[in-house]
Amino acid sequence: MGVHILSTGSSVPNFSVENKQFEDMIETSDYWILTRTGIKKRHLAPSSTSLTKLAAEAANNALSAANLKPTDINLIILATSTPDDLFGSASQLQAEIGATASVAFDITAACSGFIVALVTAAQFIQTGSYDNILVVGADTMSRWINWSDRTTCILFGDGAGAVVVGQSLKNSILGFKLCTDGQLNSHLQLMNTPKNNQKFGFIDIPHGNYNSITMNGKEVYKFAVFQVPMVIRQCLDNLNISIDEVDWFILHQANTRILEAIASRLSIPFSKMITNLEHYGNTSAASIPLALDEAIKSNKIKPGQTIVLSGFGAGLTWGAIVLKW
Ligand code: UT7
Repeated sequence: MGVHILSTGSSVPNFSVENKQFEDMIETSDYWILTRTGIKKRHLAPSSTSLTKLAAEAANNALSAANLKPTDINLIILATSTPDDLFGSASQLQAEIGATASVAFDITAACSGFIVALVTAAQFIQTGSYDNILVVGADTMSRWINWSDRTTCILFGDGAGAVVVGQSLKNSILGFKLCTDGQLNSHLQLMNTPKNNQKFGFIDIPHGNYNSITMNGKEVYKFAVFQVPMVIRQCLDNLNISIDEVDWFILHQANTRILEAIASRLSIPFSKMITNLEHYGNTSAASIPLALDEAIKSNKIKPGQTIVLSGFGAGLTWGAIVLKW
């Protein structure tokens, strides 16, 4: 059974913050942020906009583009590291869009989350278990940032992107490779730091409490520039597709310099890299489906073209998918 991407959709909060606005808050400059990251602004969700609401908007956009009703969906996979509910927000998303016939679960794999979720969806389609699957990548990183930490607060934005995947004789997903290196976990974390221990008999039971995001930017940068070109090459080699046959590369939008370095290592023109991080910053699990949706809407991507998607981030995790559009 072929796995076909039927449609895409996305959503970002209305409120956005320009680099200049950070200059009064922390020791930074528009020039530093732009030249070191490529980011000009990012969208931030106010308290009235939940992760579920953002994900639902992206999902509804993808459903209308596929001409499907929410009840046509059998499975929802929500990739997020910032759920409204620690037990998972996929069921909240199911209720919000009225996809009453679906099973729903979350996947947590940070900025690689959408890649892992799309690969998972493909397995369920290939085994014939489900016909129509909604895959959403959504994150509200702004809620987990220390706004006085200049090394992280300027990087992230909030958003959501979605695709509907269905069964078809036409196969969109040609191949994939997923990787994890837990030894590097400490480079990028959002740790549970229990406090307010309560005594229960002889033991202390801590009360759950999450800290803000911490990142060793230099190490994550080096990891991305080394591992991402390698996983893309391995994936293409397995499919006997040469790098020149790829029309577009849609990578996790973390830093323009990372994308430039990867393009140079792959010996491809930077014009083949789809980038939108100047408008949104790093939206974690949303960044790839958001960029994909924009590239579809602007008619950059044409039927029959070959596309590489690649995510990387906390875990550390990374991976690539080769698509035939
Ligand atoms: O989505 C998950 C994956 N995440 C990533 O891929 C992020 C990967 N890392 C990066 O993109 C980059 O490492 C950063 C953008 C985070 C940082 O850029 P960098 O060129 O690696 O800067 P750096 O960490 O080497 O810092 C250079 C200097 C430091 O000052 P000193 O020690 O040289 O005096 C920093 O303290 O820049 C300073 N700095 C800043 N200055 C102004 C750090 N953040 C800022 C800031 N404004 N916001």
